[in-house]
Amino acid sequence: MIKNDLFLRALKGETVNRPPVWMMRQAGRYLPEFMEIRKKYDFFTRCQTPELASEITVQPIQRYGMDAAILFSDILVIPQAMNIEVQMKPDFGPYLPNPIRSQKDLDNVIVPDVHETLGYVMDAIKMTKEKLNNEVPLIGFAGSPWTILCYCVQGQGSKSFDKAKELCFTQPLVAHALLQKITDTTIAYLKAKIKAGVNAVQVFDSWGGMLSPTDYQEFSWKYIQQIIDALKEEAPIIVFGKGCWFALNEMSKSGASALGVDWTCSARNARYLTGGNITLQGNFDPARLFSPPSEIKKMVTQMINEFGKDKYIVNLGHGILPNIPLENAKAFIDAVKEYH
Ligand code: CP3
Repeated sequence: MIKNDLFLRALKGETVNRPPVWMMRQAGRYLPEFMEIRKKYDFFTRCQTPELASEITVQPIQRYGMDAAILFSDILVIPQAMNIEVQMKPDFGPYLPNPIRSQKDLDNVIVPDVHETLGYVMDAIKMTKEKLNNEVPLIGFAGSPWTILCYCVQGQGSKSFDKAKELCFTQPLVAHALLQKITDTTIAYLKAKIKAGVNAVQVFDSWGGMLSPTDYQEFSWKYIQQIIDALKEEAPIIVFGKGCWFALNEMSKSGASALGVDWTCSARNARYLTGGNITLQGNFDPARLFSPPSEIKKMVTQMINEFGKDKYIVNLGHGILPNIPLENAKAFIDAVKEYH
């Protein structure tokens, strides 16, 4: 049994004294203890070494006491396992030297045995569970098929993901076949993570907001729904679609346990679009953590009042930025714990 089960109770929609809190990308570069490990090991070594991944996962919990931990890893371990080379270049981000642009490229993409190729993630989960000692739940995650396709086709980060969209609109059969391979791999991967011990999973659709509402249905949501259908009996699922407020109504009927919201959608609008019945997570503007701690605390209290303390998980509207002062991150977490 997990000692602090506030997060799991909020996912079930139970009544709580205060909402739970965690931060997307909480295991990251704003933490000096993370930077220490980062100096010594490159990115994928950190992901692939269970001792390091588990250590990095528990760092923010030890410092701030969030109500949930999220496994240190990356969404791009999936294309790696599918036989697509992924590098993480310092000061540049992900780089995929052989992007998928044709049926011929797609033919080399495999649906792997996830235990064989991603066994290190399952080992990291088991080691993290030991370190957490049942204090708080552990979240596992994956990128949405569309967001993974964006990197596989574009070959790197982008402001528009124009090459990814071009593939979808000029060679839709290739795009859909790639999306289905990613979906099948992701389902097997998340099932294995749940079996290894994660208590909930989050699907990050970081680039869903690049698509029009109609294209979102065809190229992103269809595949996320497959993932939900395959997993909903096994663990609670959170779907976070950045820029996807237009899909909140459909998402609320999907079987997901909670929906992420970014800061461009008001609490009132998010509640309205989702019919008021599903747990919502978000939506503090990550850049607002630059405000003075006293102001952060006021804004967090107001945010909880707007969403309501029940069926709500306090979080940022996207990942924490690398240069946020430590005391500002602390003010964000403390404001939730002090809420009454
Ligand atoms: O939330 C957590 O603390 C768990 C760890 C986590 C990482 N990546 C570690 C990471 C999670 C949940 C992710 C998800 C992820 N990765 C997403 C979806 C969430 C989002 O932010 O939209 C995406 C799009 C990626 C792909 C990715 N990984 C990018 C674009 C980058 C480079 C940009 C950057 O922030 O540096 C990464 C690298 C990465 N993944 C870092 C971390 C801590 C930073 C690089 C480093 O530590 O050397």
